Amino acid sequence: MRDGSSRVSDRPRLLPPNDPRQYDDLADEWWRPDGTFAMLHWLARARAALVPPAARPDALLVDLGCGAGLLAPHLAGRGYRHVGVDLTRSALAQAAQHGVTPVNGDATAVPLADGCADVVAAGELLEHVPDWRRAVAEACRLLRPGGLLVLDTLNDTALSRLIAVEIGERLPTVPRGIHDPRLFVDHRELVAECARHGVDLRVRGVRPGLVGTLAWLLRRIRSGGRPQPTPAGRAPRIRPTWSTAVLYQGWGVRRG
Ligand SMILES: C[S@@+](CC[C@H](N)C(=O)[O-])C[C@H]1O[C@@H](n2cnc3c(N)ncnc32)[C@H](O)[C@@H]1O
Repeated sequence: MRDGSSRVSDRPRLLPPNDPRQYDDLADEWWRPDGTFAMLHWLARARAALVPPAARPDALLVDLGCGAGLLAPHLAGRGYRHVGVDLTRSALAQAAQHGVTPVNGDATAVPLADGCADVVAAGELLEHVPDWRRAVAEACRLLRPGGLLVLDTLNDTALSRLIAVEIGERLPTVPRGIHDPRLFVDHRELVAECARHGVDLRVRGVRPGLVGTLAWLLRRIRSGGRPQPTPAGRAPRIRPTWSTAVLYQGWGVRRG
């Protein structure tokens, strides 16, 4: 394990932006809630809030681009079997330790049956997939009629590139080089693509709460860059905001 004193995002970038091998290099970071993937923990909690308790026994939730399974603890007690699909084996191994059934595969060609899922989640995935439309088609194909799609992603705007990449990747909440802004997803195109595949997607902008995030950053600075465990309940919350221009959530039900 890393000792926590080094800033992962300060390491020289050896891989191209969005290269999935970065997730292997960062494997020790996934489950450090105050580590370089901190914001993924905050987003997972907000995504899970969109998922209702399972309506039937054996309900299946397919988590596309599940990473190390950060969604899993937030779904505890909701009654789903949680299957995670990801390209990165080192992340899937950790997801399995958190109760996720791992499937090593590509979100654009998922080796699961049509209509198998009660819920499909795609958290912080689409902005990493060169052909995000195919991933959306796959997400919708997996859903049974009446099934729910929940996702969050980054919008294809200048403001998003500024905040998520130019600023965000200089903060300790986002690894540097993890995004390729050319892959960011226009929210209107996403809504249209989901509609083409039978899902009427609603979207809303979200952002980390300012006070909680500033307090979190201050704790990081005071600890000399050495991450300290955030006291329970004090992790920054992801909140709805009026603009979808940067980060947004989407949710919608598959038509019958
Ligand atoms: C930013 S992480 C998000 C992980 C997780 N959803 C979360 O929110 O904690 C993106 C994940 O997507 C995976 N990924 C990227 N492209 C993929 C693809 N085409 N198919 C499956 N997984 C992919 C990466 O390996 C990584 O685990």
